Amino acid sequence: MKRFIITGHKATTSGEFSLNDMPGSAGRMDVLCRSVNSCFFLSHSLREDVWCYLILLGEPNPPITILIKGNEVKRLNPDERSTGALIKKALTLPCGEKFRESTPGVYIRKGGLKTLLEEIDVTILDENGEDIRDIQNVPDSYLLSDHLNFTDEETELIIDLPKISAGPKVMHADHTITVILNEFDRRKL
Ligand SMILES: C[S@@+](CC[C@H](N)C(=O)[O-])C[C@H]1O[C@@H](n2cnc3c(N)ncnc32)[C@H](O)[C@@H]1O
Repeated sequence: MKRFIITGHKATTSGEFSLNDMPGSAGRMDVLCRSVNSCFFLSHSLREDVWCYLILLGEPNPPITILIKGNEVKRLNPDERSTGALIKKALTLPCGEKFRESTPGVYIRKGGLKTLLEEIDVTILDENGEDIRDIQNVPDSYLLSDHLNFTDEETELIIDLPKISAGPKVMHADHTITVILNEFDRRKL
């Protein structure tokens, strides 16, 4: 399984957000929805070998982690609004520290990056890392930030983890995911 974890530093943890204002009052939830799109959508099919974790760090109830499993998800469509609707529905479900399924293939739990790092061997996607094209065995689990830099606290957690670059320019998180998945595709992994 390939895994992508995206930190949404301002992304709301309230299920009351407006699908009409995901870039604004929902704390750039649009960035996360596009990242979900990049994780899963091919033309007329879905990548079933990808899991996508969204770490929501906005008010009122951070940190929350949403997990979307490509091999289970239903009712995921390529438009941002429908992804937003699945996240919104998940956020209305009371949850504890274990993942609870909200809709098919969409799970939610309390907790954030620290917990995930205890569970998964993560590589950081960073434009200053080692070029993925120079790496023989590409890792399968990656961490990206949204439109903001990692915080000092996050940086401390990830400082010793390997860093891989998807290319020389700083890209949007969703585009970076597409480039990494393309690399897997080219290597037939
Ligand atoms: C829009 S960038 C983050 C913004 C950036 N920290 C800034 O303010 O300049 C989103 C994320 O995509 C990933 N990313 C962007 N370009 C990349 C590249 N060339 N190689 C690897 N990861 C990249 C990084 O994980 C980054 O945190």
